[in-house]
Amino acid sequence: MTETDSKESPPAPEPMHRLHFEEPGPPCPTELPGGTPAWLVSRYADVRQVLSDPRFGRAQLYAPDAPALSGVPDLVNDPDLMFNQDGPDHLRLRRTLRRAFTPRAVARWRPWIAAIVEELLDRLEARPQPADVVAEFALPLPVAVISRLMGLEESAWNRLREWSEHAFSDGTHEGEQVAAALGEFSAFGAALLAERRRTPGDDLVSGIVTAADAEGGVLEAQLVSLVCGLVVGGHDSTMTMLGNALLYLLGERRDTWPRLGADEEAAGRVADRLVHLVPLGDDRGSTRHAATDAEVGGVTIPAGAIVLADCGMANRDPEVFPPTTLHDLFAPLEAPTLSFGAGPHYCLGAWLARTELQLALHRLAARFPNLRLADPTDPIVWRTGTTSRSPRRLGVSW
Ligand code: HEM
Repeated sequence: MTETDSKESPPAPEPMHRLHFEEPGPPCPTELPGGTPAWLVSRYADVRQVLSDPRFGRAQLYAPDAPALSGVPDLVNDPDLMFNQDGPDHLRLRRTLRRAFTPRAVARWRPWIAAIVEELLDRLEARPQPADVVAEFALPLPVAVISRLMGLEESAWNRLREWSEHAFSDGTHEGEQVAAALGEFSAFGAALLAERRRTPGDDLVSGIVTAADAEGGVLEAQLVSLVCGLVVGGHDSTMTMLGNALLYLLGERRDTWPRLGADEEAAGRVADRLVHLVPLGDDRGSTRHAATDAEVGGVTIPAGAIVLADCGMANRDPEVFPPTTLHDLFAPLEAPTLSFGAGPHYCLGAWLARTELQLALHRLAARFPNLRLADPTDPIVWRTGTTSRSPRRLGVSW
């Protein structure tokens, strides 16, 4: 090999559905990607415990003397974010919108989510082939859904996507660029809150403002982070999931396509299995901080430790998910997946995401029974964020 060859770019990353996971075991010392020492927790029961146990919180991860978890400012590591609050501070924020996302509330939205799916599929059908199923479907679907919920104009979509790419930056953006984009995003969130406070409607942002004002004691900076977090969280994860799911289904699991299109209920089980099996990103876990010495799975994790709860490993724990059915996409899950977390920070949008994925996969397969990757040998160009990775484009024909 010549020196030039050895300097070539690193090997292309594996598709998310092919990432390798070690067998889970007892808690043990590890390192975070930046080299910070941490404890790895990987068995299903242990991960559930850490995510649900109040001795393991998030706020202390951002204490002034804590080691930096990220080199670049980003939204995930914003100390004002609801996700980074514990106990009563967290509950106060979560109460402002928890009623909005119940399965019953989401069931009421189902007809208009289905209408958005149909409209995007009409547009896709009218496109010349091959078409990009990410640009035409996987991205605009969750953006349209969260925008409708929050009462945002379509004219804001490009800006929102641009801010989101910076908010979940993978480190390829300059720090100053990220800070500037986050500043604009916060100003947008603050203006939106002010407008809905003046003229409330029946959208989510008006609901948050009303609930927060009734609750009292909620800092405005936290409300702004909540609104921005919902814009990003409300579409980025679902878009990522859908893009990676389509790469897997069309690339390796075309066998599932006829049944996906024929049976909406079965498509719901496939959505559950895909969320369970295909990680959103390469970081694999959710981090917590141990407030005191705490026993997990027979091992004492010392006070002050950073704990990495590896949901990907736990989702493959053979004690809970038999390897024989792990890849049977139509089999109901044997236990709740940890892909949406657990405990007080359990993903607020889990039911919404599941509904979007179920309808998206079912209707796409029903309307495009011959859908296939336009060129399965085409190398994937990845879009990478702080916590997510998915194809930037995916050419399909039908
Ligand atoms: C397939 C799609 C999605 C996946 C895999 C996902 C996954 C997750 C995970 C792993 C957590 C952290 C749980 C923990 O550490 O305990 C989380 C939290 C959260 N998610 Fe999602 N999510 C998805 C879609 C959504 C959507 C559509 C929304 C919004 C409408 C949303 C809003 C949130 C919020 C607000 C939190 C923070 C909750 C809190 O701190 O109390 N997510 N999500």
